[in-house]
Amino acid sequence: MVMAILEQSKIPLFHTLQKHVEKKAQSFHVPGHKNGMIFPEIGKDAFRSILPYDLTEITGLDDLHHPEGAIKEAQDLTADLYGADKSYFLVGGSTVGNLAMILSACKENDQVIVQRNSHKSIMHALELSGVQPIFVTPLYDDRTKRYSLIKEKEIIETIFKYPNAKAVILTYPNYFGNTYDIKSIIDAAHQYQIPVLVDEAHGAHFILGKPFPPSSLSLGADVVVQSAHKMLPAMTMSSYLHIKSKLVDIHKLEYYLQVLQSSSPSYPLLASLDLARYFLANLMESDINNICRNVSKVREVLKETELWTLLPIEENVDDPLKITLHIESSEKLNMIVHLLEQFGVYPELTTTNQILLIHGLGEYIDIAKLAIIKKELEKQLKNKSWNDTIQEDDIYVQPITELPMSYSELKTYDTKWVSWQEAEGCIAQESVTPYPPGIPFLLKGERITEYHIQTILTLIKNGRHIHYQGKDLQSGIHVTKWQ
Ligand SMILES: Cc1ncc(COP(=O)(O)O)c(C=O)c1O
Repeated sequence: MVMAILEQSKIPLFHTLQKHVEKKAQSFHVPGHKNGMIFPEIGKDAFRSILPYDLTEITGLDDLHHPEGAIKEAQDLTADLYGADKSYFLVGGSTVGNLAMILSACKENDQVIVQRNSHKSIMHALELSGVQPIFVTPLYDDRTKRYSLIKEKEIIETIFKYPNAKAVILTYPNYFGNTYDIKSIIDAAHQYQIPVLVDEAHGAHFILGKPFPPSSLSLGADVVVQSAHKMLPAMTMSSYLHIKSKLVDIHKLEYYLQVLQSSSPSYPLLASLDLARYFLANLMESDINNICRNVSKVREVLKETELWTLLPIEENVDDPLKITLHIESSEKLNMIVHLLEQFGVYPELTTTNQILLIHGLGEYIDIAKLAIIKKELEKQLKNKSWNDTIQEDDIYVQPITELPMSYSELKTYDTKWVSWQEAEGCIAQESVTPYPPGIPFLLKGERITEYHIQTILTLIKNGRHIHYQGKDLQSGIHVTKWQ
């Protein structure tokens, strides 16, 4: 259960929309579907209940860019629940929140300390704001079997080394729900009056308390962005941004939110943020216990098998809703995912050696069916052998790196498309990002190494879905030739 001061049983924005819908008003305003009256017949049934709520800034429905009524009330309730000075509803995902957060806190050429394994929206924000990033790279973690180990000491030492940095930009938790001692970093940054900006896209539910890790806002972070749509029952793209800071200019933040967000934000998304906050605020201890019991049952079914290793979780450190299956062979992993999907079980993401399942904040999984599916998988894959066991090679990663040139200098160079044979040593003019999780493997502005090339070709061979700008990643990439 979460603590709040305001009356959290209210759902002001949702109720305001509901009252308007009940009026069955005549629409002489946008959107063009006119409360769902004009819509392709084939989609009418599917969209019937939602279209009347897809309204716009008419009298009584407030305005996201200058909220004074129901939207303000809903945002105030959210700030109250999360313990923020102010909370904002976002309709462009955490992507828009990360962009606004960084653009408002940093100016061109500011040094900022940032985790190298950040989501691409953070990397885009660095580029757009023209800052000088100092990247801190996570190390290999035997516990998670990924490069996910955040060395707090390393980040704190980096803060001591760059005391004039204008922001520390962190991701907490990572996609797989693992956290670290963020408080020690926040405290160190605040000693130098450096604001800590947190991409908490996967942690909107952390205010529920144990067994979930603590929320970074409660530990002193200055600005926190959360994809409500990822872990709360909110609609895709709906997110929160919270600020609790004397170090970040709130007016600048509001300015950038206006620059980046649509002037016609979706009311169903905004209302779903109001409903998600209401849902979270009103979860009882017994509800949380039931959810956790259900997760334990799922974990119980998934352990003890030759199919995979179920990665353990630590209370208060790892999000129990994230269930990770580790598999030593990508050939085997692909086969398992294929079979799971054939049986109607769709995971959140797969890497070369892990499958991530995300449990929701409810009891909705058919445990008995899951057990049958697992048995079926065991039967089908029994005695199969796999050739491509992945060896965790000892890749040397530099713990702290800077880009070889500033973003503004990078813009002044011509961009050329080169084949992979010619790419080594060039500066990448496009990022290469396996998606999900959306963390660039090669960053725009980074010098391309042989290791980058080999890994990208392996990712392509393994059929990974990759975001990039060029036309044919298999053959080459856009670069700047620069020594
Ligand atoms: C860590 C992290 N940050 C930010 C984002 C972007 O969030 P959204 O999809 O809400 O824009 C994602 C999306 O996967 C993410 O994993």
